[in-house]
Amino acid sequence: MNQEELFKNIISHSKEYGFIFPSSEIYDGLSAVYDYGQMGAELKKNLRDFWWKSMVQMHQNIVGIDAAIFMHPTTWKASGHVDAFNDPLIDNKDSKKRYRADVLIEDHIAKIQAKADKEVEKASKKFGETFDEKLYRQTNPRVLEYLKKAEEIEARFKLALENNQLDEVRQIIIDLEIVCPISGTKNWTEVRQFNLMFSTQMGSVSEDSGTIYLRPETAQGIFVNFLNVQKTGRMKIPFGIAQTGKAFRNEIVARQFIFRMREFEQMEMQFFIRPGTETEWYNYWKNIRIKWHQAMGFPESKYRFHDHLKLAHYAKAACDIEFDFPFGFKELEGIHSRSDFDLKQHESFSGKKLQYFDPEINESYVPYVIETSIGLDRLFLSVLSQAYKEEQLEDGSTRTVLSLPFALAPIKVAVLPLVNKDGLPEKAEEVVNILKYDYNVSTEAKDAIGKRYRRMDAIGTPFCITIDYDTMENQTVTIRNRDTMQQERVLIHELKTYLARYLSLSTLLEKCI
Ligand code: GAP
Repeated sequence: MNQEELFKNIISHSKEYGFIFPSSEIYDGLSAVYDYGQMGAELKKNLRDFWWKSMVQMHQNIVGIDAAIFMHPTTWKASGHVDAFNDPLIDNKDSKKRYRADVLIEDHIAKIQAKADKEVEKASKKFGETFDEKLYRQTNPRVLEYLKKAEEIEARFKLALENNQLDEVRQIIIDLEIVCPISGTKNWTEVRQFNLMFSTQMGSVSEDSGTIYLRPETAQGIFVNFLNVQKTGRMKIPFGIAQTGKAFRNEIVARQFIFRMREFEQMEMQFFIRPGTETEWYNYWKNIRIKWHQAMGFPESKYRFHDHLKLAHYAKAACDIEFDFPFGFKELEGIHSRSDFDLKQHESFSGKKLQYFDPEINESYVPYVIETSIGLDRLFLSVLSQAYKEEQLEDGSTRTVLSLPFALAPIKVAVLPLVNKDGLPEKAEEVVNILKYDYNVSTEAKDAIGKRYRRMDAIGTPFCITIDYDTMENQTVTIRNRDTMQQERVLIHELKTYLARYLSLSTLLEKCI
């Protein structure tokens, strides 16, 4: 199965098992907007809890807030979003399709880099164990040529973006002979800037003064509350404020399922620090965040750092943690060194001081900020695409299994009476009643037990407890592990202790520090 087929299967699996549905599907859906079903909502909640606890519960100097989606419109002038939250767009005159000009160029660069990687891979197969990849990359003429070409385009593109030269961005597309994937032609329009914010009207005012925006990031809700939290929480620098919540962007190109949506959820943390310590804290948070991802147990090779070519209007340094999605490595999380840009802008637009008196150095200053920002939906997709497996079993049959980290699974335990009679369903109910205080538990009596196991594998349930005739005699059950498919017999009164070892979120949180 190639990656494209795998991605298609993941999308249909998500729908079939109640993870994700197209929004308002009975009206044919709404582009780039999705609903989470009964399984999806649970998995999303567990991912959010994992993030929240790792930030707020595990750090004594980080607190969480929940700011409103609507904010005073001046917020977005101060933050720079009204003037600078743009994507460069370009249209193909033949297909009438619209593209992000930067994405067309970045995809082209990635293709050249992939050619270099392919050369390395071929050589690695040829030379086997004696192969020195580093040396090969530094000396092989063809690899060097590809890498040089990619670097030259990158440098030219970076300069054009820094100088806001949209003509030059178009010229790069022309010079690279990039064609529209639909029409196959190079018949491009000019490149224009397009603001990504959604606006609406507040109250009954119809003039411009009533225009407010749906927040394009949750971060500003934190900045405007910086002093409120610092004073009421008696916070001492360095300290962080975290929040999760919806954000909205009128994306030009919305594709790849829940990867790029127009309504999505962010989990952001702003860490306020003394000016001059930003490099130290930037590196600190890069390290903490990659560890958090790796705590979920997926292969380390699936994650990599990527330094930003084009810095956002607020950033002094920025990188992404990229994940190897079925459509290649793409941004999953951003880590940004935002200096004092935001607080200074809010000081100047509001006329209110947003400073901190640092008793250690006896000085007041506007703190610098390191931000970590991850899209919950993108995280969901990364976890789902890594967990989804179609396995060939020893007996020749196949099963689809979601190998989710146990602590994140939507349903933790299924209690299954072997047959639907002789008091077994009632016994199953008893076991459910013992476990439901700690876990999401499901029970099902219909269909052969093997079929029920498969259904639980497909939604990632870590444990299936089977109630059989022995249970009625000796108060023991079998527990089947989703991944190994091995079964153990356990006494009912020992179930809670048994399960806690595997299902607690602390199994993941312990790996984050
Ligand atoms: N406050 C900084 C900020 O918003 P960003 O890189 O624009 O930075 C942060 O966004 C994260 O939000 C991204 O790494 C991504 O995971 C997620 N994100 C951004 N736009 C998204 C979209 N249209 N759909 C889904 N997730 C998105």
